[in-house]
Amino acid sequence: MEQRHRQPIGIFDSGIGGLTVAKAIADSLPNEKIIYYGDTAHIPYGDKSQELISKYASRITEFLLHDKQCKAVVIACNTASAAAYNTLRDRYKGIAPIINVIDPMIEAVISDDAVKHVGVIATKTTIASGVYQEKFTRRKPSLRFSALATPLLAPMIEEGFYNNNISHAVLEKYLRDEALQGIDALVLACTHYPLIKKEIDAFYGGGVKIFDSAEVVAAKLKNILTKEQLHTDLPGGTHEFLVSDYTRSFEKSTQMFYGKELHLSLHNIWA
Ligand code: DGL
Repeated sequence: MEQRHRQPIGIFDSGIGGLTVAKAIADSLPNEKIIYYGDTAHIPYGDKSQELISKYASRITEFLLHDKQCKAVVIACNTASAAAYNTLRDRYKGIAPIINVIDPMIEAVISDDAVKHVGVIATKTTIASGVYQEKFTRRKPSLRFSALATPLLAPMIEEGFYNNNISHAVLEKYLRDEALQGIDALVLACTHYPLIKKEIDAFYGGGVKIFDSAEVVAAKLKNILTKEQLHTDLPGGTHEFLVSDYTRSFEKSTQMFYGKELHLSLHNIWA
């Protein structure tokens, strides 16, 4: 077997939105090998039950750790992090670090003293899980918390509707919702949303601090790998991008999320 620190980092999402996180990881850890798994056969996760998402996330994690010999796994999806992180963390304790996209975000927000009232937007399943509210309230009881499910945003972005009049209209509708009034910070709790960060920022005229997970998660991973002596400084960071269902349209969309078009290989672990 390869030396542990030379083994790849596994990253997964319901589809290709998690490539925003993979890109931030590839940029901050350029020598690392990455294996990305997009569960495009089951996208979207955002309106499925926690039980089903947990089943999917368990199978993908097992594939990345056992078949692909990954040294760590990043759940690059808020919905899957909300549904499956605790189970996966406990299952692989002492075996491999499992990193979710929620906890690094909680840390980033609560350590910013300027934030007094935080809003969270995410898929229906992430909001319904109550995980952000529970963690914010427990870690910083003085912080006011508001949340809104914004289910149209992920499919809208996937269809290429951002920075245009359609996305402006949808965003206006959501951001003017009663639930989000008075916030001074907004967490983009879905890995698709970095693509609309600029539009959201423009809506608020810079008056609300916007947090997106890509960079905070990459920084957290770097930290963990360094602490556990799992990082590599040797060049040779090849990347592999796998999907459970291939369409040319998914492949084209990688351009939006990764900044360049990637080759996606079909690898069905459900058969
Ligand atoms: N990328 C997923 C997330 O972060 C949302 C997309 C989906 O509904 O599958 O929650």
